[in-house]
Amino acid sequence: MLRFPLLTLPSQFGPKDLPCELRTRSGYVCTVRALQKRDAPALAVFFRTHSRETLLRRYGYLPSDLTLERAADLVAIDETRQAALAITEGRGATKRIVAVGRFNAVDDRRSAEVALVVHEERRRTGMATVLLEALAAMARARGIERFTAQTLADNFEMLSIFIKHGGRVRTIEGTDGIEVVMPLAPDPSAGS
Ligand SMILES: CC(C)(COP(=O)(O)OP(=O)(O)OC[C@H]1O[C@@H](n2cnc3c(N)ncnc32)[C@H](O)[C@@H]1OP(=O)(O)O)[C@@H](O)C(=O)NCCC(=O)NCCS
Repeated sequence: MLRFPLLTLPSQFGPKDLPCELRTRSGYVCTVRALQKRDAPALAVFFRTHSRETLLRRYGYLPSDLTLERAADLVAIDETRQAALAITEGRGATKRIVAVGRFNAVDDRRSAEVALVVHEERRRTGMATVLLEALAAMARARGIERFTAQTLADNFEMLSIFIKHGGRVRTIEGTDGIEVVMPLAPDPSAGS
């Protein structure tokens, strides 16, 4: 399995590099891989670990449950416009999903909506950073120019990570939500 230290993902990082092991900032070694059809039950189990606050922040409302049928839809990836990565830990019967990141390209496929969720016991270990950077590399390679993400205005954890990656924030009028737009294409004025 390929092993990359954090922040040195190859610029053309893509499905060919998966699965891989990454070392997070805090030294935690985890496996990053594409979500697959057989992950539907593990995804449903991961969903059930989410607190009410995590659900509100991730979805903007309180979904009642993730049925196996819906989980199967979420792992059936249309590779022409989507990517979904999981971070897993443990081996064999104890293996579990501890973080998921995905993007869905919209409209003319120059933008993609990105979403991240990390297990509450694994926050602040750099997992969202790993997922965002891996997804960004995959999206760039497909010609996607920006990520967008929506959440509640007080989601400082999410805002902080996107702002650190060049994201700009705008309020969504008439709601308590915000949208972050994170450019992916290299800035032509960089270095000038
Ligand atoms: C937002 C979320 C994905 C961040 O996951 P994470 O793995 O903890 O993030 P990382 O460890 O990669 O941290 C990246 C940066 O995010 C910011 N951050 C993360 N948690 C934070 C916290 N509790 N307080 C302040 N900043 C925080 C920091 O800038 C951090 O960098 P730093 O450690 O150098 O300060 C996680 O909190 C989560 O799953 N939240 C619920 C779902 C959600 O809000 N998803 C986003 C909307 S789609």
